[in-house]
Amino acid sequence: MPKIVALNGSPRRQGSTAALVEEIVKGAVLQGAEADIYDLNGMNIRGCQSCYTCKSEGRCAVQDDMQELYGQIAAADGLILGTPVYMWQMSAQLKLAVDRLLPFLKPGYVSALAPGKKVVLAVTQGREGTAMFRPYFEQVAKNLLFLGFGACEILIAGGTRQPADLLKQAEVLAEARRLGEWLAESGPEDAADSPE
Ligand SMILES: Cc1cc2nc3c(=O)[nH]c(=O)nc-3n(C[C@H](O)[C@H](O)[C@H](O)COP(=O)(O)O)c2cc1C
Repeated sequence: MPKIVALNGSPRRQGSTAALVEEIVKGAVLQGAEADIYDLNGMNIRGCQSCYTCKSEGRCAVQDDMQELYGQIAAADGLILGTPVYMWQMSAQLKLAVDRLLPFLKPGYVSALAPGKKVVLAVTQGREGTAMFRPYFEQVAKNLLFLGFGACEILIAGGTRQPADLLKQAEVLAEARRLGEWLAESGPEDAADSPE
């Protein structure tokens, strides 16, 4: 059964980002996946301390809730990173977690992640037009590929100050479910490795 892990970087547990993440999860679950959703805002996650223990010892020295997420992300087939746009960027809650992904890069910039993991960046924003912040999230996606994720898709929902604003956008919701299905599909690497 495909495993999906979702990190909601919005402080609003019932907000638009949570609703967008849930729609993606719905698509994945319909495709037979199991999913765990984490609200980062309620978790104890410190900023990276730049100690580089991850390089010398292969593990993060900071003992907080990221330790659970390391195991979850390592075991996941698909990752959903949800965030509202804050000041043209991802939220601070999500940025803390993204910085802490550094242990997935071994010395020499070799990824410690199993190949073929997929990511969806699920973004909500107050601004209606979705073009303005896309280049920033494309840069984030490049960084995730550099970390060793196999593919990254970006979904941006505009004009979503309240969840009701999102729930009116049928096309965005359909795309969210499609991306959830995509996350849960096995990639070409899995097919090649399959004994059947
Ligand atoms: C601190 C802060 C900064 C924000 N900055 C932006 C921004 O730069 N551009 C934008 O379009 N919306 C911005 N917004 C609006 C949120 O992105 C938008 O309301 C979002 O959909 C809320 O998601 P949520 O319900 O998950 O919290 C900002 C909101 C806050 C609270």
